[in-house]
Amino acid sequence: MSQRASQIAEQIQNWTMVFPNQVNPNGHMFGGDLLAIMDTTAAMAAKRYSQMAVSTVTVEAVHFAKPFKVGDNIKTIAKVVAVGNSSMMVKAEAYRDVGNDRLEKHVTAFFNLVAFDSQRQPAQVPLLKLSAADKKDHEQALIIKDSAKQRSKALFMQES
Ligand SMILES: CC(C)(COP(=O)(O)OP(=O)(O)OC[C@H]1O[C@@H](n2cnc3c(N)ncnc32)[C@H](O)[C@@H]1OP(=O)(O)O)[C@@H](O)C(=O)NCCC(=O)NCCS
Repeated sequence: MSQRASQIAEQIQNWTMVFPNQVNPNGHMFGGDLLAIMDTTAAMAAKRYSQMAVSTVTVEAVHFAKPFKVGDNIKTIAKVVAVGNSSMMVKAEAYRDVGNDRLEKHVTAFFNLVAFDSQRQPAQVPLLKLSAADKKDHEQALIIKDSAKQRSKALFMQES
């Protein structure tokens, strides 16, 4: 039996700016638009880690702590912090550029993505070589994933 490879995860970073068509009547950026940007960064992190096609299966623990406004420069960062067999938990954060090389964290979320083989069947991803700096995120991701699975089982098992 071949041994499952292990590897480190790379942090992916993206930048974007808030345009007038992305805000609500209060002048705050739509959460859905922001999640789409974070989901894209998370998918890039998962794809780069697994070297396979990926899809988001759940989005967990989303916290919009502060709003973004028109003209804000947003930096999103994402990194695989835990893996299952075919799934990867990616922590994604969105920061506002406040100038002078400073960033203010506005949003955090955990994206659960699944890797697929060429037949679009869930496929095994490498084991994660965890850095000491990522240990806390790893532990949080496992707790979040576990509680999400329990919730899904309890709520959606009867649905087709
Ligand atoms: C992702 C998908 C293939 C999973 O299907 P499935 O029948 O549940 O497949 P499996 O049972 O083999 O599960 C695959 C992995 O997803 C995880 N998973 C599935 N449902 C989950 C849920 N509700 N919560 C957490 N993890 C879940 C499983 O735990 C498993 O992870 P593991 O291999 O690390 O143990 C299927 O749900 C799908 O295609 N969803 C649509 C994805 C999509 O269109 N996303 C939006 C665009 S990117």
